[in-house]
Amino acid sequence: QDFPFSWACVVIGCNFASFAVVSSLSDAYPPLWKDCPDKLSDYKIENGKYIINFWHYLERQGAYKILLNETAKYFEKFAPENEQNILWGLPIHHGWQYHTGRLADPTQRTDCGHKSGDHLCISVDSWWADLNFYLSAMPFLAAVDSGIMGIPSDNVTLLPPYKDQMSFCFNVSSCRSSFPEAMKKWNEFYQHLKSNSSSFDDLLKYLWAAHVSSLEVAHKNFHNRLRYYSKQEADFGRNWALFVDYLAPPLFPTTLIRTYEFQKGLPTRVLLSGDRPLFISDFTGFQKSVLLTLNLLHIVHKYTGTLSFIVWKTLMKSEIARELFLEILEFILHYFN
Ligand SMILES: *[C@@H]1O[C@H](CO)[C@@H](O)[C@H](O)[C@H]1NC(C)=O
Ligand SMILES: *[C@@H]1O[C@H](CO)[C@@H](O)[C@H](O)[C@H]1NC(C)=O
Ligand SMILES: *[C@@H]1O[C@H](CO)[C@@H](O)[C@H](O)[C@H]1NC(C)=O
Ligand SMILES: *[C@@H]1O[C@H](CO)[C@@H](O)[C@H](O)[C@H]1NC(C)=O
Repeated sequence: QDFPFSWACVVIGCNFASFAVVSSLSDAYPPLWKDCPDKLSDYKIENGKYIINFWHYLERQGAYKILLNETAKYFEKFAPENEQNILWGLPIHHGWQYHTGRLADPTQRTDCGHKSGDHLCISVDSWWADLNFYLSAMPFLAAVDSGIMGIPSDNVTLLPPYKDQMSFCFNVSSCRSSFPEAMKKWNEFYQHLKSNSSSFDDLLKYLWAAHVSSLEVAHKNFHNRLRYYSKQEADFGRNWALFVDYLAPPLFPTTLIRTYEFQKGLPTRVLLSGDRPLFISDFTGFQKSVLLTLNLLHIVHKYTGTLSFIVWKTLMKSEIARELFLEILEFILHYFN
């Protein structure tokens, strides 16, 4: 099959099963996954439309859950139990955002998203939540639009947040007119998925193109939210976003187990002023190394004036370089996990 690591894995002896830390696939599922809606009819219906509140963790995560369920059949040929569905990267990462308090109101003016308060609330002031909106609402609505969900495009409406409504969109047609490029890219991904003829790597290519397109608009619109955080957290957010830009050219395969293992390297709480990457006592060696690597990447990127990114993109066009990079990354994951 088209699984990009297969040969590499033979060489370094890493087969998938050796991610044995995961005893069952459901261990890798995002927090509260079983409590999320698993079909559209679990949502409220008004005037013949499903009403989804993307500012509530279970409802946003539920949209992903339905998306994963509806796309499972296209990934069956790669592995059982939907493990190779490359859309897993999105809900797994969103689960991390929830679990680590990153969806909470960073201004502390409300208890939205805070453990002691309304913990399922997603704050419109959270930089992480706003970026994720573009990576949840858009892929979801584009899936509706491309017929993946089996309902008419006009049948879903998302509830607006209490402010800054202009930065968001709430149904297929308004998302298409406000964010034409990103919606088009997500649609292209689903068209290729539906055709059944694309290879695994081709699907990754369309997925990452859509992902990058969503993030491009999101960065512009929500940059100002970073001021609500400590310098450490704001830097981490910015560096993480930069790192994701670098993960796109090698087409990192965002499948269930791999994303889950990778995410163990991310900070388990919001960074506070005074946190210094190598000296955070409640973080693992893996987490500290990731923070340090992200800092280094930022420095290199800054001082080469993005030349490093251009070189990287060019390098990753070579299949050998790309597989080598993914192999090294896989090796690092095994080393730390
Ligand atoms: C969806 O659209 C169809 C056709 O426009 C309509 O008949 C149906 O009631 C709508 N609502 C739901 C919740 O399916
Ligand atoms: C999709 O969800 C339905 C229940 O809503 C379930 O019966 C089915 O097994 C799920 N399919 C997959 C591939 O997870
Ligand atoms: C979509 O949303 C826009 C504004 O957000 C609204 O004007 C339009 O009527 C909505 N369309 C449908 C089909 O619900
Ligand atoms: C693609 O594969 C799925 C699952 O095997 C199948 O249900 C569907 O009909 C196929 N679609 C096309 C266009 O071949």
